[in-house]
Amino acid sequence: MHLLIPAAGSGKRMGANCNKLLLQVRSKPLIAWTLLAAEAASSISWIGIVSQPPDWDDFKSIIADLKLKKTIALISGGATRQESVYNGLQALPTNAEQVLIHDGARCLVTPNLFDACSDVILHCSGLIAAVPVKDTIKVVDENGIIKGTPERKQLWAAQTPQGFDVNLLKHCHAEGIRQGWEVTDDAALFEKCGLEVRIVPGEETNLKITTPQDLAIAEFILSHRK
Ligand code: CTP
Ligand code: MG
Repeated sequence: MHLLIPAAGSGKRMGANCNKLLLQVRSKPLIAWTLLAAEAASSISWIGIVSQPPDWDDFKSIIADLKLKKTIALISGGATRQESVYNGLQALPTNAEQVLIHDGARCLVTPNLFDACSDVILHCSGLIAAVPVKDTIKVVDENGIIKGTPERKQLWAAQTPQGFDVNLLKHCHAEGIRQGWEVTDDAALFEKCGLEVRIVPGEETNLKITTPQDLAIAEFILSHRK
């Protein structure tokens, strides 16, 4: 299975002066944990890291330190996550029929979740890891007034990995550019094109590290792993 890792963000909400994926968690750069999980997932053979060229020296030295055995490619990132994934799709080897996309910022993912997604994507054309929402979610207007309360049992929190048929996802990204759609995950492009996306049970600990509090939670979770 081919894996693309969007890692080209600037980490504004983290408030650090660098790409948050280079910050240390448990004595390793955050992205190192994501890469170690991908390396340990037996289904993954090729890893494309989509990142900004000014970060490449850092990424290269992290890859070298981890002594990864899998084939790794560095791909230039775009101005948005959507553009970064688009660039990643163009850089996939021509034999890639399915692809998993996993945010570099979800460094608590497990090899099992990668392998589960790799299995399921062989039998469908689109999937995402997701978990049932625990909070009651409100739809709120611009004046801070609640407009509705969607039924909780229909709500799932989207995670990555997300998996797709490569040709279909390329088609959806091209359509997204034509139509000017701006989305925060790839499943949304699939949905807008009328294609089916299946849920795979995600992991409660598979957090996206976004703020300094998330970094502290990641330290805690990793320190309790064997
Ligand atoms: N990402 C990317 N290219 C971009 C923006 C984001 O590849 N132009 C990646 C990030 O590196 C991250 C993932 O997409 O692994 C999810 O994005 P997010 O958590 O929003 O990270 P940042 O965009 O870096 O953070 P922020 O939105 O706070 O600036
Ligand atoms: Mg962002």
